[in-house]
Amino acid sequence: MMDAAVSQGRDGEIAADLMRWYEAEGRALPWRVGPAVRAAGLRPDPYTVWLSEVMLQQTTVAAVRGYFARFTARWPDVGAVAAAEDGEVMAEWAGLGYYARARNLLKCARVVAGEHGGHFPRSAAALQKLPGIGPYTAAAIAAIAFDEPATVMDGNVERVMARLFAVATPLPAAKPELRAHAARLTPQARPGDHAQAVMDLGATVCTPRNPACGICPLRGPCAARAAGLQGALPRKTAKAAKPVRLGHAYIARRGDGAWLLERRPPRGLLGGMLGWPGSDWGDDPAHDPPAAADWRSLGEVRHTFTHFHLRLAVHIAELAPDAAPARGFFVPRHAFRPSDLPTLMRKAFDLACPEFDPTRGDPDDR
Ligand code: ADE
Repeated sequence: MMDAAVSQGRDGEIAADLMRWYEAEGRALPWRVGPAVRAAGLRPDPYTVWLSEVMLQQTTVAAVRGYFARFTARWPDVGAVAAAEDGEVMAEWAGLGYYARARNLLKCARVVAGEHGGHFPRSAAALQKLPGIGPYTAAAIAAIAFDEPATVMDGNVERVMARLFAVATPLPAAKPELRAHAARLTPQARPGDHAQAVMDLGATVCTPRNPACGICPLRGPCAARAAGLQGALPRKTAKAAKPVRLGHAYIARRGDGAWLLERRPPRGLLGGMLGWPGSDWGDDPAHDPPAAADWRSLGEVRHTFTHFHLRLAVHIAELAPDAAPARGFFVPRHAFRPSDLPTLMRKAFDLACPEFDPTRGDPDDR
């Protein structure tokens, strides 16, 4: 077994090599204070660190850029988010997925503004008590914004550790072991830059497929590379296949061009978002249109949520001017923005849209 002092020295060298690489090759990101500017004393704004980390849990750096720019232009600080209308924030979030995160984002902003004087708490332990902030986000904010030597674990970091130390245990069982390696490597000095360096290495060099070992700053000490296992690690326990659920969606338009929409219940999937009236999603959902009309089936759209695949049968109808639907409300043609819909509902709209007469509508608004 390796002597503790030798291992510490080796870990210190690995961390130092990684830091040198980050200083030269780290990505310039809109929410990031790069290592040179950070060394000159500029600290990142905890608000933008928090916002970017919540967004990055959902999608790629490339996709987040646009959302981040729009959000921060509209709401430049946490107080502005706290004061925003729920619907406006949800609409800006549409397309990022997981609306529960947007709801928690609002809740968190309101707790920070209302109970912490507009300042984020500075430790990972205190951050984790805020709505929507789990262990990963708490550690990332504490490290990046406040230089706490917290261990930041996400999929990128797990992959880098699994390869660097050739951890053969499959995920998720390997998590504690991978965390212990990451914790050991985390330096007391500049832990925020270190966390971002590991993330960047995982995203740009130590990638899931075809890692670029030839340009990796850690190719020397990497145990997976030495054993030729870099493509096989990390191992993963096979996941159970996702079940398929079925549902119906009803897209209806009235003679004056107004669309029949529904606000989804606040809890549950797509909670609080706009959508087409529809059935529950399950094995055998009831076909129960919201109004009597000549309904026509258009086929289905498919969408995958975290725990299941959904096949949504789309039905369309033109409604009489005096139609009185059993559910939903009419949104006038000029007030309807397809971009306000979450992706699933947007897919259904994209399927149905060509079937409706585009010149139909309120004569004032043509
Ligand atoms: N992925 C998640 N958070 C990140 C960050 N702060 N920098 C780079 N990639 C990330």
